[in-house]
This record gives sequence, C-alpha cells and structure tokens, in this order.
Amino acid sequence: MIYLNNAATSYPKPKEVVDAVTDALNRCPIEPGRGSIGEGNDILTDCRQEVARLFRINDISRIILTSGSTSSLNYVIHGLGSRYPDIHCLTSIQEHNSVLRPLNHLKRKGKLKLTCLEPDNFYDLTTFEKALKEEAVSFVVLNHVSNVNGTILPVQKIAEICNPYQIPVIVDASQSAGSIDMDLSTWPENIILVFTGHKGLMGPMGTGGFYLGSGISNFEPVVQGGTGVRSELLYQPETLPILYEAGTMNLPGFAGLRAGIRFIQEIGIKKISDHKHRLLKHLCELLLANDKIIWYKPVNEDFRGGVLSFNLRDHAPEDIGLILQEAFQIVTRTGLHCAPLIHQKLGSWPKGSVRISCSWFTKSEAIETLANAIQAIGRGRTWKS
Ligand SMILES: Cc1ncc(COP(=O)(O)O)c(C=O)c1O
Repeated sequence: MIYLNNAATSYPKPKEVVDAVTDALNRCPIEPGRGSIGEGNDILTDCRQEVARLFRINDISRIILTSGSTSSLNYVIHGLGSRYPDIHCLTSIQEHNSVLRPLNHLKRKGKLKLTCLEPDNFYDLTTFEKALKEEAVSFVVLNHVSNVNGTILPVQKIAEICNPYQIPVIVDASQSAGSIDMDLSTWPENIILVFTGHKGLMGPMGTGGFYLGSGISNFEPVVQGGTGVRSELLYQPETLPILYEAGTMNLPGFAGLRAGIRFIQEIGIKKISDHKHRLLKHLCELLLANDKIIWYKPVNEDFRGGVLSFNLRDHAPEDIGLILQEAFQIVTRTGLHCAPLIHQKLGSWPKGSVRISCSWFTKSEAIETLANAIQAIGRGRTWKS
C-alpha cells in the first residue's frame, strides 16, 4: 500500500513513537500532580519540554496539552470570545471546520461578526491593515498552511501588524507544525499557536495543544474539572497550564508525542520540508503534459506544507480516490477536506478534490506510481486488466 494521506494523520508512525506509547501503557500510571512522581516519570513535563524545544518557547507552563487542534481551537475561540460582549473575528476562507464551526456557532447566537478574507488579502498587508483599522477586530484566526492546497499564510507578519493594536492572533498550525520551522522567540507575544500531535509531529491521534503567547492574559476555561492539585478549590485553579487542563490526561499519547517531536527534530524540519517539496514538485513535473488535470496549487507555489490537490476533467474526485485505492492500492483523500469555503474560491465546490499529502517516509517511487496511475485513469483505461 502507498499511503499519501498524511495531512489527515501521518502513517507510518516512527518505531520510537510506538515504543514510547507501549512503554507508557506498561508503566504504573502515576499522574503528575496526582501522587508522588519519580524522577524522569513526568511524561507531561517531558512532552512540554520537547514542544518548547521545537518552537523555542521559554515558559513551558504556557504550553497547554489537549486532545488536538479541534479541542484547542474550541478552548481558545470560546474562551477568548467570552471576553468580549460583541466579538468581531477576522479570518480566512482557507480555514478548517474546527475554526469555522465554533465561529459560526457564535455567529448564529448573535455574538459574533465574522469577516472571512481570501488568502491574497494576507499578502497585501496594506489591505489587511486597512481592514484591521476600519473595524474593531477582537481577534484574528488564521490557518498557517491550508490542508487543501498547502497555501502558506504569512502568520508571523500578520501577528506583528496586530500586536500594537493588542489583537490576539490564533494560528492554526495543524498542517505546519513539523513541516515549517517556527521560532516563536522571534514572534510577537500576541499569538496563540494551536498544534496537533498526529500529523507532522508524528505522534499518536488524540494529542496536541496550544501555546499562549506571553501577551495573552488568561481567558475563561471552557472545560472545568479535576486537576489533582488544589482540590479544595471549587473553581478551576488560575495557574497555567492546569487552568486549561482538566480531567485525566492522555499520558501514553503524550509519551508518543514527545518521541515523535524528538524524531523529527533529529532529522531536521528543513530536511523534512525539502523532501516533501521535492516530491510534490516531481509529481507536477511528471504530469505536466496531462491536459486533463486541474491543479489546485498553493498561491505561492511553495510545496513546503506537503499538501497538494487536483481533479481530473470528467471524473468525480471520489471516483478517482476509489480507483486509486482499489486498483492501485494508493491511499489519498477526496472531498472537501473539512474546509468548505476554499473550494468555492478554487472552483472545486461542491465535490472537492483529490488530495495528496506526503511525509518523511514517502518515497519518490510512490510518487512515480501515483503519476502513472493518474495518467491511466485520465486515459480511461480499464485499470482492472
Ligand atoms: C488545518 C487543520 N486544522 C485543524 C485540524 C483538526 O485537527 P485535529 O485532528 O487535531 O483535531 C486539521 C485536521 O485535519 C487541519 O488540517
């Protein structure tokens, strides 16, 4: 089987990740804060330290561990949103439903005004600044790398523009973490970086978190519950990270996430990103002469996000995906990829596209097999023969 659906979840996971999860499951489950912790037994602290090393974060207490980007985005959007009587949120049309749905939920309740800009608007920073000045924006939410076509938004620059206005910028780094190097020590302090563990960071599903920039003051916790410490309090303790970490934590998952981040750090993010870039560029070159193919390339044609979408004229994307899987044992992803608005702009609405997403483990031969398979489907060959 050739697996090209790493934007959904990376596969295979490194052996180190599988071993770390297994080891954590085999260990006596002493949770931090819930009993005495032997040295080197604090999985959560170790994981936070690894996240801190990856993103160059000084204060690990500002790294909140969660079950992934969806839960992080909900904590942050609803929590931050509760600060404002009327919220005005500025976002992009390339957002995932884990951003669009909480925002539209608040909008339907009459609490939020939503402005969705096209990716180009974030490159023309004067237009962006004008939009920012014209209306009182409460916060900005931006997808760093599109999970549909890999368009990279200049989130650091956007955060720099918003910083003097004290506008928080929530960066959905679900697709960029592990693909694009982010040195947060050089970013302004008004950012909240949301990451997931099971994609580019190579960790298990059900892991992720968010980093609260030092310029973001605490907002209401959306989830409250046991923390194992300060149990006498009838309210959620105000200290970070437990203000946002209620309930039993996924220790095997975070042991795996730590191992995943270590694995990618040892290879180097640049090397991983160059590898993905080369593979997708190669795919485009192999299919250059195919006039049936419709590419949905990134705005700036940079494939460093490791994601690319296409369609074939006269073929529904779900049919292409099914043929690739059944006849060629190539796993891709078809449909809207949980990001409906961008397809209206790309012209792939309502059926969506076929998405290819690589990982460090993807080989060039896999890309060549894929290119041949796409050519064969395009020619309408009987693939079963
Ligand atoms: C851009 C983007 N945001 C958010 C998510 C949700 O991530 P998670 O699976 O960690 O909830 C995804 C995953 O598909 C994504 O691609």
